[in-house]
Amino acid sequence: MRIAVVGSGYVGLVAGACFADLGHDVILVDNDEQKLSALRRGEVPIHEKSLPELLRKHRGRKLEFSDDLAAAARASAAIFIAVGTPPTEQGDADLSYVESVARAISGAIDSYKIVVEKSTVPVYTSDWVRKIILRNAAPPDSFDVASNPEFLREGSAVTDFLYPDRIVIGADSERCAAVLREIYAPLVDGSYYQRSGAIPRPKQAQIPPPLLVTSAKSAELIKHASNAFLAMKISFVNAVSSICEAVGANVEQVCQGVGADSRIGPRFLRPGVGYGGSCFPKDLMAFRSVARECGYEFRLLDEVIRINEEQRQRFLRKVRNALWTLRGKRLGVLGLAFKGGTDDIRESPAILLVQALQQEGCRIAAHDPAAAERAREVLKSGVDFVSSAYEAASGADALLILTEWEEFAALDLDRLHQQLKYPIVIDGRNLYDPEVMAAHGFTYYSIGRPSAAPETQAAAAGTPARKINRS
Ligand code: UGA
Repeated sequence: MRIAVVGSGYVGLVAGACFADLGHDVILVDNDEQKLSALRRGEVPIHEKSLPELLRKHRGRKLEFSDDLAAAARASAAIFIAVGTPPTEQGDADLSYVESVARAISGAIDSYKIVVEKSTVPVYTSDWVRKIILRNAAPPDSFDVASNPEFLREGSAVTDFLYPDRIVIGADSERCAAVLREIYAPLVDGSYYQRSGAIPRPKQAQIPPPLLVTSAKSAELIKHASNAFLAMKISFVNAVSSICEAVGANVEQVCQGVGADSRIGPRFLRPGVGYGGSCFPKDLMAFRSVARECGYEFRLLDEVIRINEEQRQRFLRKVRNALWTLRGKRLGVLGLAFKGGTDDIRESPAILLVQALQQEGCRIAAHDPAAAERAREVLKSGVDFVSSAYEAASGADALLILTEWEEFAALDLDRLHQQLKYPIVIDGRNLYDPEVMAAHGFTYYSIGRPSAAPETQAAAAGTPARKINRS
């Protein structure tokens, strides 16, 4: 099928490349000429596993890049809108880009087409998109508007797209649903997974994925409700981690016990420095705002957001408790991205923490395997960007782990110990076993677990430190 995907951001670029891999002919439309030229040259603007190989495979063949929205819409049977929906000052989603795309494609609807929301949008957006297209004189039976929310995570976006837990089609007519069914047929009938060049299946993936057909409004709500629920899970576990700290319990053990209940499940129960990224913070505010407009005060979401902010403050207190005064202290920082596996720093708790520590007079040496370049634009002065974890630790009063990159969980602990001025590690992502850290001579603080220190330094680590002899 010929498909236009409007917007070459995270969702649009990944969706475009994956639709091409399913066998469709895709035109990826953007009005940013620089971005388009870079894509045409073969550059990949985001750090995302498997994306470079998909772009290489399909660029100039099943995947074209264009700035001509009307022509792309005219040539396509389905037009996916994947433009940004940034938050306004009040917290609701700014839908002006969605509206201008709807307006621009109206004139191009010369035969039956479906217009599909792929961006995360509030409920009722599909109604508005339909109204706007009608207002601009497209005949009512020449198009349908659908919602097909995307559940991909940055860092595993390609496999999330091709091996989804579910595909949600929000369509209000069978004609429209049929087009979307056809687009996803290679996944739903399993034929994609038989192909020799298919992106390999991740461990936990169930194939083929189920396809849910709902109304457009339900699909819009599924997206917001899913992200809000996941964020709530994280805030819940972060709140539990505070209680664990107060009573000397271990949040990892608690989560293991809680997550073993199949009704709850073990995923998204990792405590940390709070959630960040371009989705959860924005989507929670937008969902709260749309709920309010519909007459429902979604106070639960206020609390989820509050706990998330408090989690950063609690981490800062941990740093203060470990180091006493902060002015003039040199801190090594591991991780600046909002999570591992991405170069995205939007709403990154790591960036917010580094800024707060700088304000308190700390000097920072930071390492991130992918996000340093983007972080440099935001943090500007006062941060040394270094190229390894050991360099970040070199001469530091303490090392902070702020992003769960895999490589940060596999450090040579003896080498790290030698680098640090004081062997103090404050781990905001629970990447290490406290006993192992103490056995390697570290005073180690983490989230929701007792701190640990070698016997000689246990007193300095404060109670309730585990006293462990270095072996
Ligand atoms: C999230 C959702 O997981 C996707 O399903 C959704 O499609 C996407 O938003 C979106 O709306 O576009 P993403 O923001 O890429 O995906 O990242 P997540 O893996 O969900 O992580 C979000 C934040 O939560 C990160 O800061 C991460 O470190 C944190 N997190 C995640 C935790 O603190 N604990 C966990 O157990 C899981």
